[in-house]
Amino acid sequence: MSRRFPMIMTVRGGPRRDGCSGRMLRLFADELDAAFAEYDAYEENFAPCTDCRACRQSEGCAMDDMDGFFSDFESCDGIVIASPVYNMTFPAPMKAVIDRMQRYYSARFFLGKRPPIPKRRPVALLLSAGSPDEDGGMIVEQLRRIFTVTNCELVCNVIVNNTDDSDALSGTEHDIRQKARIFAESVNSITDSSQYS
Ligand SMILES: Cc1cc2nc3c(=O)[nH]c(=O)nc-3n(C[C@H](O)[C@H](O)[C@H](O)COP(=O)(O)O)c2cc1C
Repeated sequence: MSRRFPMIMTVRGGPRRDGCSGRMLRLFADELDAAFAEYDAYEENFAPCTDCRACRQSEGCAMDDMDGFFSDFESCDGIVIASPVYNMTFPAPMKAVIDRMQRYYSARFFLGKRPPIPKRRPVALLLSAGSPDEDGGMIVEQLRRIFTVTNCELVCNVIVNNTDDSDALSGTEHDIRQKARIFAESVNSITDSSQYS
């Protein structure tokens, strides 16, 4: 029987495709033996959540612009988020993506769906930051809240600091590749082995 490659969803949070976080994502993805569903928060420009509360009445989102995104998010085997840090959090288009996850919070706590997404998926977080001491802590905390209702698990986290220095990435390439291999192991161990036989 033929082996199916894991499907990895990548989400770019920054506007500069060849910026530090974009290059981190390419390095990371190069280590993965996978098929990719690629999203770019700035290109997609998804609408922000309006707290219309339709998701409290029936499962899903009243807006359809993220239907394809949500479908890939629920069915993929792993997720890689790569983003710069802006004012301690995600750039605005990426923050909109995070806020649109409210539909899963509503599914869990207003509609009683446990869990709102049956499939567990590992997540890798790749961050770039201009400051030498930004640790991405606020972003990790934001994601932790979302992950409790979306059945995701943060399995690795890399931050490159001092990105105004053009050499900032070079010292961390080894770490990024190593974390990618750890992520790949999580994808393979979480994914039902029957899908690969
Ligand atoms: C609007 C804005 C806000 C920023 N806020 C922060 C910040 O809070 N902490 C920080 O370390 N760097 C901050 N930076 C610097 C960016 O994190 C840095 O330029 C980024 O890592 C570049 O990533 P990229 O090369 O992937 O585009 C900010 C940059 C911009 C444009």
